[in-house]
Amino acid sequence: MTTAAIIVAAGRGQRAGGGTPKQWRALAGRRVADWTIDRFRDLVEHLVLVLSPEDAAAWEEFGSSGMILAKGGVDRAGSVRNGLKALEGYGIEKVLIHDVARPCVSTRIISDTLTMLDTHAAAAPGLAVTDALWTGNHDLVTGTQDRAGLYAAQTPQGFRYDAITVAHDAHPGGAADDVEVARAAGIEVAIIPGDADNIKITRPEDFDRAERIMGMNMDVRLGNGYDVHRFGHGDHVILCGVKVPHDRGLQGHSDADVGMHAVTDAIYGALAQGDIGQHFPPSDPQWKGAASEIFLRHAVELAEQMGYRISNVDCTLVCEFPKIGPHASAMRDEMARIMGLRADRVSVKATTSERLGFTGRSEGIASLATACLVAS
Ligand code: CTP
Ligand code: MG
Repeated sequence: MTTAAIIVAAGRGQRAGGGTPKQWRALAGRRVADWTIDRFRDLVEHLVLVLSPEDAAAWEEFGSSGMILAKGGVDRAGSVRNGLKALEGYGIEKVLIHDVARPCVSTRIISDTLTMLDTHAAAAPGLAVTDALWTGNHDLVTGTQDRAGLYAAQTPQGFRYDAITVAHDAHPGGAADDVEVARAAGIEVAIIPGDADNIKITRPEDFDRAERIMGMNMDVRLGNGYDVHRFGHGDHVILCGVKVPHDRGLQGHSDADVGMHAVTDAIYGALAQGDIGQHFPPSDPQWKGAASEIFLRHAVELAEQMGYRISNVDCTLVCEFPKIGPHASAMRDEMARIMGLRADRVSVKATTSERLGFTGRSEGIASLATACLVAS
């Protein structure tokens, strides 16, 4: 069945305050609307975004996004009607209607609602009320209310396209949501289990709550890297992209930048994508003497392609000499530049091994690194 979702985003977000309408404000590093749109992107065939005529920049930006754009109405129902109209001629059978202000909606709720539409004309998530309920004036409790059979309504609310279009056209207005519109037209609405995390950002404090919910669902990946290169003839070493004068050089197929190799492997490790040797085989002559920047850039690009951004990296160099301290800041800057990060997200530090082992005997330099990646 051909599916679509209408995301209504034409409200002004008066109760959330903050000057800018809530859907264009930042939440965990991206705008609320970006999170919400992404939730639906792969789950329906057509996406309608309903925008206020006042949001000129959004019309421009989303004009080339592949989404169908529709103009907001004077109230939410008007916006929904315009969204439904914009889908005319697409042969839509199932349509989901969702508030842009619910960016924490889960894949489970979206797919359950769609599945329920195989057997029902309408379906929507509801959360059974668990708190005791009171009636009251501003200061005093005036009574209690039986909570049995009461649900808090959420979105997306799903419908057969033709039925909800007719229902909206016939409705006199003033409905709280699309379920009310559907029921007024005699459409039976199935309840699917809602989710307490599927909050609607309404008041200023809801931004913090939504960020906490997103934080808990955040996909965080860690990786470690380890590398060793042996000393040989030379008058400098390259460490974390910085040339450091020394009475010996490091041997290796590439520029032997042991620190950058460890960081690169930590990123590959976080992605579970093997190691440098796999992506840049030492047997391949084209990498002979190569600047290790190529490897690090590749790992960063792979992370981006897989939907991750690098949160931070930490690299430790193990050697007696050369002394790293005087160069550590330049090393951080250089690796930050290559990775496109701020320098305060990159750490380079060093330790000796108390003259013990191969690093202690100055036979070579070892390096360890950790990378933290988060889903972007
Ligand atoms: N909405 C809409 N068109 C309108 C009014 C509301 O598309 N004319 C959308 C909002 O963008 C939101 C959803 O309907 O996604 C639910 O409305 P609400 O939470 O009330 O958002 P706002 O109307 O933006 O906020 P407020 O009522 O605080 O001004
Ligand atoms: Mg409103």
